[in-house]
Amino acid sequence: MTREIIIAPSILAADFARLGEEIAAIDAAGADWIHCDIMDGHFVPNISFGADVVKAIRPATKKVFDVHLMIAPVDPYLEAFAKAGADVITVHAEAGPHLDRSLQAIRALGKKAGVSLCPATPESAIEYVLDRLDLVLVMTVNPGFGGQSFLESQLEKIRRIRSMIGERPIRLEVDGGVTRDNAAAVAEAGADTLVAGSAVFRGKSSADYAANIAAIRVAAEAARVPKLQEHSALPMRAGEGGRIR
Ligand code: DX5
Ligand code: ZN
Repeated sequence: MTREIIIAPSILAADFARLGEEIAAIDAAGADWIHCDIMDGHFVPNISFGADVVKAIRPATKKVFDVHLMIAPVDPYLEAFAKAGADVITVHAEAGPHLDRSLQAIRALGKKAGVSLCPATPESAIEYVLDRLDLVLVMTVNPGFGGQSFLESQLEKIRRIRSMIGERPIRLEVDGGVTRDNAAAVAEAGADTLVAGSAVFRGKSSADYAANIAAIRVAAEAARVPKLQEHSALPMRAGEGGRIR
């Protein structure tokens, strides 16, 4: 059985005036997960949207909601995002001094736990929390804005984290500047879950989005590390009805 690539369009690049329709469009276009970028104007220099918006858009799709919290402090808000309908909740290792506690809190809420690393943060930041993780998110831009250029320096970090993960059922996600042109490089380095904002929401129709998602998926699948194809674990693959199983 092969380890499947997950494509998670970031709705940061959607038309916010038509957010429900945009989510329905990427759902129909073949998105596996819906990536929600939450920014607080403090941890990152931009503000996006909060738990009430996540709750409002939750009925627009049955797909997995992959919620990326770029906020500090983060612990006081975990329950609100869990209740709003997040399936995966990812916090930043740099967002506070108690990462282990945050990850325990996410799992105690019944959600999948992720940790994200900014470009300057080494992979050693997650060495002692690996067994609390369902997902590691490697930022390939400095978080805060869509449409930035992919940082090649992060490919080595992706490789190292793939090796740290070993046989654990942890998804390795890449976020920032991902396009059909670099999808092969990130997959070859070991990523199995690709976030893309501007590269997906290019064009206007669901058909355009479908072509964009397919191009990223085809490039990534063609470049999968051969040894990963022996893995049978498929953590957090959207199952029947689109929920995590
Ligand atoms: C950046 C966000 C990303 C971003 C991706 O802080 O975490 O998810 O929206 O957008 P693109 O694909 O345009 O870089
Ligand atoms: Zn993100």
